[in-house]
Amino acid sequence: MSEITITKPDDWHLHFRDGDLLNETVPATARCFQRAIVMPNLVPPVRNRAEALAYKQRILAAAPTDSNFEPLMVLYLTNETTANDIRQAAGIDIPAAKLYPAGATTNSDAAVSGIESLYPIFETMSEAGMLLLIHGEVTDPKTDIFDRERLFIDQYLAPIHMRFPELKIVFEHITTADAADFVLSATATLAATITPQHLLLNRNDLLVGGIKPHNYCLPILKRNTHQQRLREVVASGSPKFFLGTDSAPHAKHTKETACGCAGCYSAWGALELYTQVFDDLNCLDKLEGFASFYGADFYSLARNTEQLTLTRKPWTMPQEIPLANGDSVVPFFAVKR
Ligand code: NCD
Ligand code: ZN
Repeated sequence: MSEITITKPDDWHLHFRDGDLLNETVPATARCFQRAIVMPNLVPPVRNRAEALAYKQRILAAAPTDSNFEPLMVLYLTNETTANDIRQAAGIDIPAAKLYPAGATTNSDAAVSGIESLYPIFETMSEAGMLLLIHGEVTDPKTDIFDRERLFIDQYLAPIHMRFPELKIVFEHITTADAADFVLSATATLAATITPQHLLLNRNDLLVGGIKPHNYCLPILKRNTHQQRLREVVASGSPKFFLGTDSAPHAKHTKETACGCAGCYSAWGALELYTQVFDDLNCLDKLEGFASFYGADFYSLARNTEQLTLTRKPWTMPQEIPLANGDSVVPFFAVKR
């Protein structure tokens, strides 16, 4: 097969950043995605309807005029978030709010310290039909980084899901067999996104033969048995798993340094890389569900109607993308491994 045509996909988890960087990140995503769930971890974070809609306007101003790209906005839950913030925000252009455990990842200092203190907020979200998006890692500094996602499931995720059975929860960017199996065993109100890096790579790709900073993201790449399980569940065609790139640009010099930032900027090739994975797994027939249907269905949004054609041909990722401020970004998978 040299070509496949699918319904235009959406990206259910990414980071656009702000300011001049939007002129790079928004067109890169609008190239092949119709909608995107835009993560709110700016500094300061996106905390209420007014901030979300102002950010949305800045994103739209950077979108190519012919793209009809639609950003879907997300609130960042903090210890100051009120039920009113949720009620005012909930609706079609702000379908979700994001829970970052404090200190879990890039720009999560503003996040919640006691997750249980947010239970009244989860109640309001459940009533308002707003989705809860979760970065699922425990943050106790003594906990081994490779165990953080697995431990989050029993300590936080399972109790939240049990207490709020109607609340739709997306377990974001899952990386372990434990997470995949938990999602499969849970009721229909729990689903997960999976990134290209966690399908393509395992921790050897981060650490063997020298540290590869451009493969460093959070949650961190796990051992190959976990990668294998993630590949199995997407190949199974289960509607509980859908596309979320977690595309997250960091300037080259902030990744190639003694204490490098976490995040892979995959927007330039994410759809092609996912397609490669499905092709390698001999299940290209499952790509459209994962990329274009299951996310929209879970969010109770209409599926896209436009089509997109992918053609099999050699293709080289640019090694580096210059930014307006003189910095550059290295796209995910550009560096020879
Ligand atoms: C993301 C970022 O850079 O904002 N980094 C990452 O490693 N994935 C934050 C996140 O999604 O955890
Ligand atoms: Zn992310």
